[in-house]
Amino acid sequence: MARIEQDGFVVAADESAIKPGEVAVVEVAGRSLALGHLIDGTWGAIDNVCTHDGGTLGEGELDDRCVECPRHGARFDIFTGEVRAMPAVFPVNAYPVRVRDGKVEVDLSVPAKELEIG
Ligand code: FES
Repeated sequence: MARIEQDGFVVAADESAIKPGEVAVVEVAGRSLALGHLIDGTWGAIDNVCTHDGGTLGEGELDDRCVECPRHGARFDIFTGEVRAMPAVFPVNAYPVRVRDGKVEVDLSVPAKELEIG
């Protein structure tokens, strides 16, 4: 079971597990997330579910600050969860990320909305 810090951050991955420019699926405290490591060294995390038709965002591509769904190409901002390209229209949740002692941690205490699919 993942350890949740008092401030809501949970260890999601080792820093070395995801190379810059890549996004991956991580399971954190019962939640599935798309965790992205940007070329500039920053990190972002969003829900792992595309709101168009349930595609697995963490299996997509990370381009600039957007994750592209592997199914039909919808794009989501990895820092805000907003849709940046159709066919998805509804946003996903985004989670703050920090790196401490070589571990990537995600804040799961932020309010998260139930996703609208379609
Ligand atoms: S399921 Fe993601 S774009 Fe269609």
